[in-house]
Amino acid sequence: MPTPLFPVFLDLAGRRVLLVGGGVVARRKAEAVLEAGADLVVGAPALVPELAQAAAEGRLAHRAGPFEPHWLDGAWLVIAATDDPAVNAVVAREAEARRIWVNVVDDAPRCSFQVPARVERGPLQVAISSRGEAPMLARWLRESLEMQLDPALGLFAEWLGGKREVLRARFPNVTRRRQVLEDLIRGPTADALRMGDSAAAEAAFAAALAEDATPCGRVILVGAGPGDPGLLTLRGLRALNQADVVLHDRLVSPEVLALSRRDAERIEVAKEAGTHHTTQQRIHELLLEHARAGKTVVRLKGGDPFVFGRGGEELEALRAAGIHYEVVPGITAAIACGAYTGIPLTHRDHAQSVRLVTAHCRNSIDTLDWRALAQERQTLVVYMGVQGLDTIRDRLIAHGRAPGTPFALVENGSRANQRVVLGTLADLPERAVAENVRSPALLILGEVAALAEKLHWFGAAPIERVLDANAPADPRPLSPPETLSSALKTAAALTLAA
Ligand SMILES: C[S@@+](CC[C@H](N)C(=O)[O-])C[C@H]1O[C@@H](n2cnc3c(N)ncnc32)[C@H](O)[C@@H]1O
Repeated sequence: MPTPLFPVFLDLAGRRVLLVGGGVVARRKAEAVLEAGADLVVGAPALVPELAQAAAEGRLAHRAGPFEPHWLDGAWLVIAATDDPAVNAVVAREAEARRIWVNVVDDAPRCSFQVPARVERGPLQVAISSRGEAPMLARWLRESLEMQLDPALGLFAEWLGGKREVLRARFPNVTRRRQVLEDLIRGPTADALRMGDSAAAEAAFAAALAEDATPCGRVILVGAGPGDPGLLTLRGLRALNQADVVLHDRLVSPEVLALSRRDAERIEVAKEAGTHHTTQQRIHELLLEHARAGKTVVRLKGGDPFVFGRGGEELEALRAAGIHYEVVPGITAAIACGAYTGIPLTHRDHAQSVRLVTAHCRNSIDTLDWRALAQERQTLVVYMGVQGLDTIRDRLIAHGRAPGTPFALVENGSRANQRVVLGTLADLPERAVAENVRSPALLILGEVAALAEKLHWFGAAPIERVLDANAPADPRPLSPPETLSSALKTAAALTLAA
């Protein structure tokens, strides 16, 4: 097992660094070294224009010509970045002999130090190294961290730096000081700074300084999206990384839940149509209880919290109790199911508008404006509609929607077990029963639904109705379209005729 490298962060400000090489690679290295404030000397017979310009502006010194060992005089670090391995080898050998740290680009065995991949947020830096053995892996890790670490962290680090002396004077006891700092770090301060609310950040700090400072918790309402963890937003992921407690609906997929902090407490508040395992009131109580205990609570909801998600009610409860909150939107089922089935919810030729409705219970069905919902050239997306499909079909047809209008029932949209059942409005409930469609499922009704037949790309192919020429006549005959494409034409023709 090779010995591990020892990571350090060097203060190069005003210290001499020799860079041997004047090409594109050397230019990249020079940028990083200059950024660190080094006294840079570049030795090479010729320089690329950017380096030549930096030399002309006095930002670096140029030693013209082939490498000479005396260039090393006074250098703390050396980087060999020529395109000639023999020259690089000489530079490395001479530097080593003088006990000067040397890096040879893309030649790990000749290096006495390596330059890590970096993620920077202001004064905060994360350095990643694979000791030159798996640079691609190190790069991948860097990219992942870039996504996960909030850009506001830099601002927060600077802000905290400015508070150090005050904190030290106020809390001479190190353990207590650490505790206060931990609460500040986990609390809403960084988010307040990100949102440009420095008054809130200062208020959180003042509260932390108070003698009887009780930690202040908060709630982040996060939309988990429809199931595919790749559809969670970056901000949602960051919130999950911060959460002490995750209060989640049953609809949230296990893959998304798995992205929360390992030591976070996860509480399922199962709520399904018709079977309210946890009342909304109890959910409010749980949110308040944990936030008041100083915890960062993520309230994780399927899809988007504000689309048939009762997110508004939860915010009202939090607002009334004076608890800090934030909302992170999620991809709602309509958008995700459209995308994952190849159904564009609007289409210049077929639908100029989209309506999202819920058919949760009889009350909501009765209060819907069926005349408006039955209009042609629009897409109707019905959430929680698996149970009331016969009513939906009857009311839409009674209010003028063509029986041949195509539909898609999308079950488990965006998940590995996604199923899509296609048909036309006239036989909507029968198709759902025949194909045993189960919740969560979404109804997309309108001419665009037929496009799934040719545009689908994810998971199993859509299940279409196969017409049996010998079957007894359908009790509710359509002017029977052979395929959904012809159903589309029929629907369009009916629209034209209307
Ligand atoms: C209580 S609502 C929540 C909607 C959620 N807030 C959203 O924005 O998607 C639940 C309904 O959303 C729909 N739904 C949610 N996720 C779904 C999925 N992955 N596939 C199909 N339908 C889904 C179903 O109609 C389900 O009954």
